[in-house]
Amino acid sequence: MELPVKLRLSCVLASALAAASFMAAPPSWAGPPDIGPLPEIKYDEKKAALGKRLFSDPRLSGDAAISCASCHDPKEGFTKRAPLHIAYPGSDHFRNAPTLINTAHKGGKSGIPWHWDVRIGTSLNDMTRDMLTESYVMNMDMRIMQERLKQDPVYVQMFKDAWDGKEPANGRVRDSIPEFLKSLVSKNVPFDQGKLSSDAKAGMELFKGKAGCINCHNGVLFTDGKPHNTGVPENPEVFKNPARHLTYITFMFSLGVEDRFNWRRDIGYMTVSHDEKDLGKFITPGLRELKYTAPYMHNGMIATLDDVVEFYNQGGGEDRPGLKDGLMKPLGLSAAEKKSLVAFLLSLSGDDLAYEPEKPNLSYPAIPNWYEAKN
Ligand code: HEC
Ligand code: HEC
Repeated sequence: MELPVKLRLSCVLASALAAASFMAAPPSWAGPPDIGPLPEIKYDEKKAALGKRLFSDPRLSGDAAISCASCHDPKEGFTKRAPLHIAYPGSDHFRNAPTLINTAHKGGKSGIPWHWDVRIGTSLNDMTRDMLTESYVMNMDMRIMQERLKQDPVYVQMFKDAWDGKEPANGRVRDSIPEFLKSLVSKNVPFDQGKLSSDAKAGMELFKGKAGCINCHNGVLFTDGKPHNTGVPENPEVFKNPARHLTYITFMFSLGVEDRFNWRRDIGYMTVSHDEKDLGKFITPGLRELKYTAPYMHNGMIATLDDVVEFYNQGGGEDRPGLKDGLMKPLGLSAAEKKSLVAFLLSLSGDDLAYEPEKPNLSYPAIPNWYEAKN
């Protein structure tokens, strides 16, 4: 009885996805693709080194206070341990950020878009621009950014070396950061190396069989790249905290959501499709590196992997009739089975990629950093 549900879902999604021009086309649906090891990604070493410096440089934000690394912290799994993220001063974020490890495997032909509501599917260059320019993320005017970088002799030299004698330019920034992101891939993953404990092996069988996780979490990243409603509870903090609420309203405004003042929930994929049947759908996240990225879900509402597995065991959360995905049914897992599933999930995490970000010399140009002064 599973097939009609999947087929219906894929037809609905195909038409909705086709309507949003900048998103990746959904892959044709012929049953869940198998899970497998990650392929290698090639990148340019010099551009990646430049991208790495830019990644933790606060001069890339409007008030020169926060960098990509402030929110995608290399020491916290390239996300943050808090359920909801910080945002640009004066706003506060309404979602949890996905890790950036393996993010370069998404976009373009992969058919896996970025963001919880699948709103960007094109390229990492577009993703980087989105993060730099959105008012609640880094609020950067890229013309100012370009001039700031030209004043730092270290950058002038690094751009010359990486870009064939050329000077700092905003397009080159948006192409260098992605080269760094391509270097952020899982390393020494027990699953990829075929080194599973017997517990993890039992967990893999449940994942593919009785627990049905593979219906949505499949392919090399363990995601079908599609949005589903699993009934994750709202994070009340988004609507209780005025800074988060106003940020969320502004976000909905920028995506043309008409009824934005009345919603008291994160509407998810409906922000993009403008169709109420997509209420509360969020992209299936990949399952690699979960060891480093708690708490879980789009709003950080589930604290541990044990709790995530229990959430699925109970058939997911609650929502209005008809909204929750038909695959979300109580699973009847024993305590031992739940333990095996968690062991399998942990076998998808590799070495810790943490590093101490370089602190660039901020005296060219001298921009006082209020964030550093306060923290
Ligand atoms: C103020 C916090 C903040 C800063 C600064 C920030 N990000 Fe993000 N980033 C987020 C949040 C939150 C999300 C998830 C947003 C959503 O899904 O709606 C995200 C999502 C992403 C994603 C999509 C990941 C995925 O798998 O869907 C990428 C890629 C990304 N950021 C890269 C960057 C880069 C590169 C920079 C620096 C140029 C940056 N971010 C700066 C908070 C931040
Ligand atoms: C109907 C599709 C579907 C099925 C079946 C499914 N998932 Fe998910 N999974 C999702 C979606 C969608 C999310 C994100 C939900 C949200 O944030 O609102 C998610 C989130 C997760 C997360 C959190 C990851 C993170 O980075 O926050 C984990 C872990 C997870 N699922 C594991 C599993 C396991 C284990 C199973 C099987 C017991 C399973 N999933 C079955 C669609 C599914």
